[in-house]
Amino acid sequence: MGNLLEVRNLSVSFFTYESTVQAVRDISFDLAPGETTALVGESGCGKSVTSKSIMGLIKKPGKILEGSRIYFKGQCITDFTIKEWERFRGKNCSIIFQDALASLNPTMKIGRQIIEVLNNHDTGLSRDEKVKKAVEMLAMTGIADAAGCLEKYPHELSGGMRQRVMIAMALIGRPELLIADEPTTSLDVTVQAQILEQMKQLQQKLNMAILLVTHDLGIVADAANKIIIMYAGRIVEQGPAREIFYHPVHPYTKALLDSVPRIDRDRTKRLRAIEGNIPDMANPPKGCAFCGRCPEAMNICEEHAPVLRQIEGPHAAACWLNELHTIHGGTDA
Ligand SMILES: Nc1ncnc2c1ncn2[C@@H]1O[C@H](COP(=O)(O)OP(=O)(O)O)[C@@H](O)[C@H]1O
Ligand SMILES: [Mg+2]
Repeated sequence: MGNLLEVRNLSVSFFTYESTVQAVRDISFDLAPGETTALVGESGCGKSVTSKSIMGLIKKPGKILEGSRIYFKGQCITDFTIKEWERFRGKNCSIIFQDALASLNPTMKIGRQIIEVLNNHDTGLSRDEKVKKAVEMLAMTGIADAAGCLEKYPHELSGGMRQRVMIAMALIGRPELLIADEPTTSLDVTVQAQILEQMKQLQQKLNMAILLVTHDLGIVADAANKIIIMYAGRIVEQGPAREIFYHPVHPYTKALLDSVPRIDRDRTKRLRAIEGNIPDMANPPKGCAFCGRCPEAMNICEEHAPVLRQIEGPHAAACWLNELHTIHGGTDA
């Protein structure tokens, strides 16, 4: 089966008076229909810029650089017109952000906001049918009193409820791809788990792909089929979730794994935050961007940036250690 989405050599920079921030630097990846792919990395690594690129939401001073291409079901969307983007959003692909309160209109009841989304999709339904559809969708996201919810204003709902409303609004046009950008980051752990579980169930019902964007590798273990690890605007490792969790190659991936609680790990082992910060993206280092924080860095890492190379099957990493391993593995065997 073909890919749903293909990102090819995507680069995005922000051009400001003082500097050019290279937020995303030449990344390529695929999303398969119906699958969940997690896009993981610390804050500032370029995850949201990647998400927004797919939705046509990069605005000045940001720019998608020449040569970048994104294909949705084989169609190049990077040169869509405004009209084409409007048709694409909500219908083919939807996005939900961390902050539901900021995305919802505070002066409008939930019901009216959902119906406006339906109006944009131009479905030719009567008002009653639209209300019915809104109630159905809210119920599907796990809201018990869906009809009552229509009459509420955003501030009358809890954070978890608001996020469910956002999911309902995103899914009411039945998109084939949902981009969930830190969808549960502002919620407490229990509500987080409930919402992620709900998303999984909706995914099966509606047969959609999900790009789950998060800084927290801990929440993707149950959710993702594939994981893409991003660091300083680049993909440093990607592969099936199992491979990333059990056979991580890149020291950054290993550091991320060490920084999240895991049931399958020795509980006496301390969680370790990654020391240091991501590099200044206005002035990215010429070698490996993780070099300055890497416990296994070698001389070559400072000089040359490693490229993403296959390890086994779809598992790939961009690390000089992997290259050495390949060379030695090849000659010793
Ligand atoms: N509107 C903007 N203007 C200038 N720089 C931006 C803008 N949006 C994002 N950036 C920069 O792009 C980089 C990546 O940001 P982002 O994709 O939001 O990171 P993440 O979502 O991984 O936390 C950061 O260095 C950020 O400062
Ligand atoms: Mg972000």
